[in-house]
Amino acid sequence: MKLHIKTYGCQMNVYDSERMADVLAPLGFVLVDDADEADMVILNTCHIREKAAEKVYSELGRLGRLKERRKDGGGGLILAVAGCVAQAEGAEILSRAPYVDMVFGPQAYHRLPEMMARVGQGRVLDTEFPEVPKFDRLPRDRDPGTAAAFLTVQEGCDKFCTFCVVPYTRGAEYSRPVADVHDEARRLAGRGVREITLLGQNVNRYHGEASVRGGDWGLGRLIRELAGIEGLERIRYTTSYPADMDDDLIAAHRDVPQLMPYLHLPVQSGSDRVLAAMNRRHGADDYRRLVDRLRAARPDLALASDFIVGFPGETDGDFRETLRLVEDIGFCQAYSFKYSPRPGTPAADSGDQVEDSVKDERLRDLQDLLGAQQLDFNVRCVGRIMPTLLDRRGRRPGQLVGRSPYMQAIHVEGPDDLLGTIADLEIIAGLNNSLAGAPAGEPAGATLS
Ligand code: 5AD
Ligand code: SF4
Repeated sequence: MKLHIKTYGCQMNVYDSERMADVLAPLGFVLVDDADEADMVILNTCHIREKAAEKVYSELGRLGRLKERRKDGGGGLILAVAGCVAQAEGAEILSRAPYVDMVFGPQAYHRLPEMMARVGQGRVLDTEFPEVPKFDRLPRDRDPGTAAAFLTVQEGCDKFCTFCVVPYTRGAEYSRPVADVHDEARRLAGRGVREITLLGQNVNRYHGEASVRGGDWGLGRLIRELAGIEGLERIRYTTSYPADMDDDLIAAHRDVPQLMPYLHLPVQSGSDRVLAAMNRRHGADDYRRLVDRLRAARPDLALASDFIVGFPGETDGDFRETLRLVEDIGFCQAYSFKYSPRPGTPAADSGDQVEDSVKDERLRDLQDLLGAQQLDFNVRCVGRIMPTLLDRRGRRPGQLVGRSPYMQAIHVEGPDDLLGTIADLEIIAGLNNSLAGAPAGEPAGATLS
């Protein structure tokens, strides 16, 4: 049986999709790249903005037609919708897309074998939050087949930012026990993984129980422990909530060489008024001070962030505060979005919605500034030697792609045996979204595309 999983949204969904494939493998499912070849298609969906959710319905329409054609030819196709749209709109999906067989939320993946057994008997809807955390029932041994892997350590969110669906779709905060995380990381390193990114919606709120040495461990302590794993050369974590950066985690950036000098720390806005309306538990100056402390611990730390423009009630003055914050900090990379009202979240009902044309204009201005900062950061890397984890092949023959310590994509022409290793590359060009490198010590120029 052939399985195709299409993943939308965040890295946590990428991790979850891999785990669904792990759960289905013992039932005889092999992953394929093309939905048209598959016996079963899972859409692992994202509900964070309206556009993301709408994409799912249009893809479902296409797959529904594929299923019809199969039926006409005497074949079949199992269609499943997973992830956050499934969690939030389960019943609606079943009524809007009558050809969908299964709808299940992010807390139900470990129940996939039971659900599969029920498919023939009717449509399946599972959006329960379980009493036993799913991680306890997911297989722990897996081979990601790459040198960089994700590892979910925390899930859910109790912050309730007024724009955000996550607390509703992913539920309350939960941290996996230290021993489980350590075990999974050790097995990954044993399979050739050199870099692990610890994932959580609020990963720096991690507070895992440690049964052997006791107590409740924060993320800083967890990172120190993982840094002792043989073969594990790089550690990252994403994504973090500014008010949850504690002293120990900041100190880990100073003390742990495996912890990469890059941090995604979403700020959302530079206006205290907007931040308060968003129910963020930090002001703009708190963020500036936090970045100062982080940079004191790790002077070359590169910062990335998320921004929302056009939050209800945002004035031109508020938006200028955001631009000012961006200028003060200097980001290496960032994601910025127009505010998208999400049903069921408090801000969606605000009477102060900002006009779309204003959102467009602000987004353009913000992205111009952030794009210029990113290009500047990339150009300043030219001439440096960077240890690069080469973990995939590029589009062109002979091209490899990797990540710098600062998360920049680096393209290089090099021999295949560099794949899966950390190679020293000389940076020969800084582009908008990537760098070009050459194996250090070789004449530069030849690899520039
Ligand atoms: N509208 C626009 N952007 C949003 N985000 C979350 N919810 C919304 C929304 N309703 C953005 C935030 C968050 C990122 C994952 O998505 O910037 O950090
Ligand atoms: Fe959403 Fe805020 Fe929680 Fe992040 S911290 S997941 S933005 S509610």
